[in-house]
Amino acid sequence: MRICRTSSEMQQACRELKKNTVPERGLGFVPTMGALHAGHLSLIALARAECDVVVASIFVNPRQFAAGEDFAVYPREFEEDCRKLESAGVEILFAPAPDDMYPSGATTFVEVEGIGNRLDGASRPGHFRGVATVVAKLFNIVGPDRAYFGQKDAAQVAVLRAMVRDLNFPVNLVACPTVREEDGLAMSSRNRYLSADERRRALILSRTLEAAQHLVKTEVRGAQVLRDALPEALAADPLLQIDYVAVVDPGTLEPIENIDNGALIAIAAWFGKTRLIDNVVIEPVAQRANPDLSQAPARELSHA
Ligand code: PAF
Repeated sequence: MRICRTSSEMQQACRELKKNTVPERGLGFVPTMGALHAGHLSLIALARAECDVVVASIFVNPRQFAAGEDFAVYPREFEEDCRKLESAGVEILFAPAPDDMYPSGATTFVEVEGIGNRLDGASRPGHFRGVATVVAKLFNIVGPDRAYFGQKDAAQVAVLRAMVRDLNFPVNLVACPTVREEDGLAMSSRNRYLSADERRRALILSRTLEAAQHLVKTEVRGAQVLRDALPEALAADPLLQIDYVAVVDPGTLEPIENIDNGALIAIAAWFGKTRLIDNVVIEPVAQRANPDLSQAPARELSHA
């Protein structure tokens, strides 16, 4: 695996690589901040299956962390990450230094108005401005045909889809299913911040979402019922602090009243100093499989 440390070297290397790809399969790109886990590797596996060549990036992007957030302590495991990427079949890794990505005097930002200020954008002001700016730069440097992102960051996917549409990036953005630990916890580089007790308590997120899915399968169609029931269920852990519970349109991230046309049910919550997010996407009624209640999970939410 070749490692490029500067934007100009990466741009040149990707141009050369693309010359040898079949246009329909093209170049796949997986941007990351490193500390790679099975979720990242699933993005690379899908990119490998769908594209001729796959390139990745590792860059802990300072512009998407607000003051006081975990930028300084964000896990950095470059050697180990390189081993994982190489055995996953990545051809080129882009690993720039911050001053290559943001030389002094770099004052241009990409701001996805409206949608960029919803969900995590509301809780972490400036976060999606930093994400959209770095991803736009990475797209310009790599020139991918397809780019792969985890659905766990559902709001990020929605913001980047809007950016790709609004700025005419010739990229197909692929959202990949959330990868979970055996007990249901969504994989995240931040899970390693959790103490053993917080790790155990964090299961309430996936269990609450699973129960919400069960409600949708059996009876509930109004979003407000879910908006009321989820915080009640999360209150079973009195130490957890809810950041948001959202039932929104998956494309616009705006609150919805009825989930018949599909919905994103998303939770962000604090376990001590660690903020975790998780979500499920509810398909529009017409696309939902016929619910087989004998197979449905037994857990239930209390709801009005
Ligand atoms: O999802 C992430 O890891 C980051 O937000 C991304 C897309 C690599 C941009 O820094």
